Amino acid sequence: MSITSFPERQGSARPKVTTTTIQEKKQRREPITCLTAYDYPSARLVDEAGIDMILVGDSLAMVVLGYENTLPVTVDEMLHHTRAVRRAVKSALVIADMPYASYHLSVEEGVRNAARFVKEAGAEAVKVEGGEKRIDLIHRLHDAEIPVMGHIGLTPQSLHTMGGYKVQGKSLAAIEQLMRDAVALDRAGVFSIVLEGIPCEVAAMITAEVSTPTVGIGAGADCDGQVLVLHDILKLTFAQPAKFVRQYGDAAALISNAVTAFKHDVESGAYPSDEESYHLPKETKAAFETIAARKRAMR
Ligand code: KIV
Repeated sequence: MSITSFPERQGSARPKVTTTTIQEKKQRREPITCLTAYDYPSARLVDEAGIDMILVGDSLAMVVLGYENTLPVTVDEMLHHTRAVRRAVKSALVIADMPYASYHLSVEEGVRNAARFVKEAGAEAVKVEGGEKRIDLIHRLHDAEIPVMGHIGLTPQSLHTMGGYKVQGKSLAAIEQLMRDAVALDRAGVFSIVLEGIPCEVAAMITAEVSTPTVGIGAGADCDGQVLVLHDILKLTFAQPAKFVRQYGDAAALISNAVTAFKHDVESGAYPSDEESYHLPKETKAAFETIAARKRAMR
């Protein structure tokens, strides 16, 4: 295989995004875009719209599978969705989120599970929540040739230790810890760091301090990029959106209106029309009508 370029997937309209592309974007001060996707059609549309990175987030537990929080989703469920996304995406960098308890119990198990995302689902990187306490794991993942996206601040897998989904980094001590976490991730060589639910001033300070690209969600405008949950921007979640969510469409209304119209058309006989039906070829039709007429006469 040629070593001069990363192989483009067939039919791709833009160059393949790699972890290097993301790091170069920070150096050029070009904003980085990232959205979640969990299935083939949405991943395809996100990729074709030119988004840099697609995260198969464990938020799928809540958004797609209807769980109350992200904790119950399993490696096998995440693999299933990552495979669907992989089949859809030609250019964007595909990142799989490591679910709760897939890397918390031992480094060994974390590496084994991460390797499954690469080997069995085609992920190009994995995301793990936590800063300093994940450094050993991150080194081991790098030894296994797996790029890592860090995630600090409001880390939803720490729901119970945080005592709810609360903005983090509000006290000086908490800011110091966040900074230590960010610097540790930076030194460990992660290719990007998600900063979630922290004051914009703190996110700006971290972003200026580390050479790793930061990707914010509820962390203000000074991060190197932004990530949002696709279903949030499409108004396809049923909860009150967080303050940082901007809704760019109303997929809930679109689906609801289409389904209601279908129901109405079926019940009123308006669907299907003659144009929406298949018809017999001419040569069969005459014989078919003769048989049908005979059958009617025998009744
Ligand atoms: O699971 C997820 O969707 C996430 C992000 C939004 C960062 O972790």
